[in-house]
Amino acid sequence: MNAPATHYGRFTRFLHWGMAALFAWQFITVGAHVLAPDSALDEALWATHKVNGALLMLLAIVRLAWALLDLPRRPPAVNAVATLGHLSLYLLMISIPAVALIRQYGSGRAFAPFGIPLMPGFEGEIEWMTAVGGIFHGLLGWTLLVLIVGHVGMAIWHRRSGDEDVLERMAGRRSG
Ligand code: HEM
Ligand code: HEM
Repeated sequence: MNAPATHYGRFTRFLHWGMAALFAWQFITVGAHVLAPDSALDEALWATHKVNGALLMLLAIVRLAWALLDLPRRPPAVNAVATLGHLSLYLLMISIPAVALIRQYGSGRAFAPFGIPLMPGFEGEIEWMTAVGGIFHGLLGWTLLVLIVGHVGMAIWHRRSGDEDVLERMAGRRSG
């Protein structure tokens, strides 16, 4: 029987840090939208919210599939709370853009992220679809922000408290 892994692999790290950067961008667009509505900054940044969100949806699906395949090769969870926290992050990474895309479809408006005609658009509206996004997208989006703050806080806490240095697992020199 092999010894348990001590570090996350390259592809896991690539997805983790790449998506962390895209999430940071996503929340910056939201910040400008909420704090400086209709400003030039808001208009410039908000133009990227849906496209970046659609990219995050795609990456979240790839990441979830990869996590399931890669699970036996990952370092063991530090405790049950960490497992629950990571599961919640996955749930939100999928459901937030999913409800937004459902709303986008239901609005009947065309949507072509990166020029790819994902939704051709149609006359009228599908009300339950726009309602689902209207109720849940922002609510879950803010919940994710709170969880991310907690997640980063816990990573720092584990490092400082001298128990398992989880940051080393995700950012340390040994990859593979
Ligand atoms: C994981 C990706 C995403 C995150 C974290 C995210 C997060 C958020 C947050 C926090 C808000 C602010 C809500 C408020 O003002 O209280 C928001 C608004 C909005 N988002 Fe996203 N979003 C994502 C993806 C998307 C996608 C894919 C679309 C569309 C295709 C989209 C469309 C919108 C729209 C139209 C609004 C303004 C209306 C509303 O508040 O619901 N978002 N988003
Ligand atoms: C500066 C920002 C971040 C830091 C310092 C950070 C740190 C870490 C660390 C140290 C781990 C390993 C935890 C362990 O093994 O118990 C980890 C794993 C994880 N992080 Fe982050 N993280 C950040 C941002 C994010 C963001 C924005 C998300 C998602 C919205 C996220 C989602 C996850 C998930 C799901 C895992 C489990 C491993 C995986 O499947 O990728 N992290 N993070």
